[in-house]
Amino acid sequence: KPLHFVTLLGSLRHKSYNAAIARSLPSLAPEGVTITALGSVGTFPLYDEDVQAAGFPAEVTAMGEAIRLADGVIIVTPEYNYSVPGGIKNALDWLSRLPNQPFAGKPVAIQTASAGMLGGARAQYHLRQILVYLDAAVLNKPEVMIGHVAAKVHSETLELTDAETRHFLEKQVSAFAHFAQRYRVSG
Ligand code: FNR
Repeated sequence: KPLHFVTLLGSLRHKSYNAAIARSLPSLAPEGVTITALGSVGTFPLYDEDVQAAGFPAEVTAMGEAIRLADGVIIVTPEYNYSVPGGIKNALDWLSRLPNQPFAGKPVAIQTASAGMLGGARAQYHLRQILVYLDAAVLNKPEVMIGHVAAKVHSETLELTDAETRHFLEKQVSAFAHFAQRYRVSG
């Protein structure tokens, strides 16, 4: 049975390196695994309980449904000031309030890429903490932290060119597919 994963991107930047990583994933997926991108978290308003009381924004509801239907979510994000970017925290805050909370029991894999040496390792552990409250089933290993990312992406085509990184991503997606089999939703 085929598996379907969706990617959730933490950067809004037009030439984002993390977006480049996320775009490379469909071509690195093992046979039987499809990967598509969720909408941008940049379309969500700032979380406000009063706004929620008036009704969830359509983009929040739509993303929640796309996550529920997926066999797993791959979060690809930069690190901002040793933590997760506000945009992705805001999106997770909105999604966490949906009825039939979409991350409950949902397989999640994390990938971080940064300009620095540590590849977003610190953000990754903050993200894991948030996902505990959302009761997601987070893949432990292999961890994907991509340091010095600018040197690994083509400056003009913005393609992930670094062979070692591509191989490493391939290994994680493959491990995630095995992991997600145990939680699959599609009948
Ligand atoms: C950064 N950057 C950064 N890098 C890092 O390794 N650790 C950090 O804590 C931070 N903090 C940080 C804060 C803010 C506000 C910005 C704008 C940037 C640098 C970051 O890794 C770099 O800008 C990446 O290129 C961002 O990812 P995208 O947008 O290319 O996907």
